[in-house]
Amino acid sequence: MTLTIAPMEGVVDIYMRDILTRIGGFDLCVSEFVRASQTVYPASTFYKYCPELLSGGRTAAGVPVHVQLMGGNPTLLAENAEFVASLGALGIDLNFGCPAKTVNRRDAGATLLQWPDRLHDIVAAVRKAVPETIPVSAKIRLGFADKTLSLENAQAIESAGASKLTVHARTKLEGYRAPAHWEYLAPIRESLTIPVVANGEIWTKEDFETCKQISGCEHFMVGRGVIARPSLGLEIAGVEAQKFSWKKILLLLLEYRTLIEEMEGTSLRQAGRLKQWIKLIGRTYEESNEFFARIRRIQSPDDINDELLRLSEDLRVRDAIGESDIAPLHASAL
Ligand SMILES: Cc1cc2nc3c(=O)[nH]c(=O)nc-3n(C[C@H](O)[C@H](O)[C@H](O)COP(=O)(O)O)c2cc1C
Repeated sequence: MTLTIAPMEGVVDIYMRDILTRIGGFDLCVSEFVRASQTVYPASTFYKYCPELLSGGRTAAGVPVHVQLMGGNPTLLAENAEFVASLGALGIDLNFGCPAKTVNRRDAGATLLQWPDRLHDIVAAVRKAVPETIPVSAKIRLGFADKTLSLENAQAIESAGASKLTVHARTKLEGYRAPAHWEYLAPIRESLTIPVVANGEIWTKEDFETCKQISGCEHFMVGRGVIARPSLGLEIAGVEAQKFSWKKILLLLLEYRTLIEEMEGTSLRQAGRLKQWIKLIGRTYEESNEFFARIRRIQSPDDINDELLRLSEDLRVRDAIGESDIAPLHASAL
C-alpha cells in the first residue's frame, strides 16, 4: 500500500510538503504542475515549483517529490522532462486532469482526455526522453464530459510506457462535486498491469477503507483531505487513532507561517495560502471556521500573523504542548 500527497496548485508547496511529510504516513509527493506551453524552462523555474530538487528531490523527512508537467505538445513536454530529469527529478508525472477553463482552452489538462491517442503520444515521448530509471506516471480523470473513454485512456497510457496511473474518480464536468465515483476504478485497475492509484474524496480513514473496498486499489492519493486533516496519513497507517487536537493544528499553522517567513519573508501571496489552509481545515475543525470568519477580510500577512499568535496565546498552545516540541512536529509528542 502507498499513500501519495496530491499535487495542489497554490496549496501544496514546499512548506506544506515539508510539514505533512514530517508528520508522516506518506510515501510520495507530486509537485504543483509546471505548464510546458512554449519553451524549455530554465532550471530556476523548476526550482521554484520543486525546491526539493536542490536537496536530492526529497522533502526534509526523506519523502520523494515527483515533478508534474502539463501540456499538449509531446515534443515540448519531452524536452522539459529530459531537462528536469537532468536536474535530479526522481520521477515525472503528467497532468491530464486539470479542469481549469484557461488551461483547457490552451490544449492542456483534462481536455486531452477526449483523445486517447494524444495521451499515448505524450506519455510515449516523455518516456523516451528520460532515463529508464526515472518513473513516468500520469494522472487522469474518468473523462472529459462523460466516462466512456476511461478504459481506453488508461490503456493508451499504459501502452505508452507509463509506470503508474492515478485516477481522480470524476470527469472534468463533475469538477470537485461529491461523490467521487470509486466504482469506475475497479474495471480500470483490472484492465491494466501497472499500479492504479485511487484519488478523490478521501477525507477520513473510513473514506479510505470504503474507497479501498469499492475500487480494489492498493495505492491511494489524498488531496484536500490531508490539508483539512493533517493526521490522515497517520490514521490510515494506524499510528493515530483519531484526528489531532485543535491546539496541535494551531501549532502546525504557526509552523507553516514561520517556515514561509524564514524562507522568503511574508508576502500577500503566502497570506493567501495560509488563509486557504485555514479555510480547508474548517472541513474537519469547527474552530477553524470561526477563526476563518475572523481573518477572511484581512489582507495584510502581518495582521493575519497577529491574529494567529493571539489565538494561540489565548489557548496557551505552546504551554500545552511544550515549546521544545514545536520544531520536530512528532506526532508522538502530542
Ligand atoms: C486547489 C487545488 C489545486 C490542484 N492542483 C492540481 C495540480 O497542480 N495538479 C494535479 O494533477 N491536480 C491538481 N488538483 C487535483 C488534486 O490533485 C486531486 O486530484 C483532487 O483534489 C481530488 O482529490 P481530493 O478529493 O483528495 O482532493 C488540485 C486540486 C485543488 C482543489
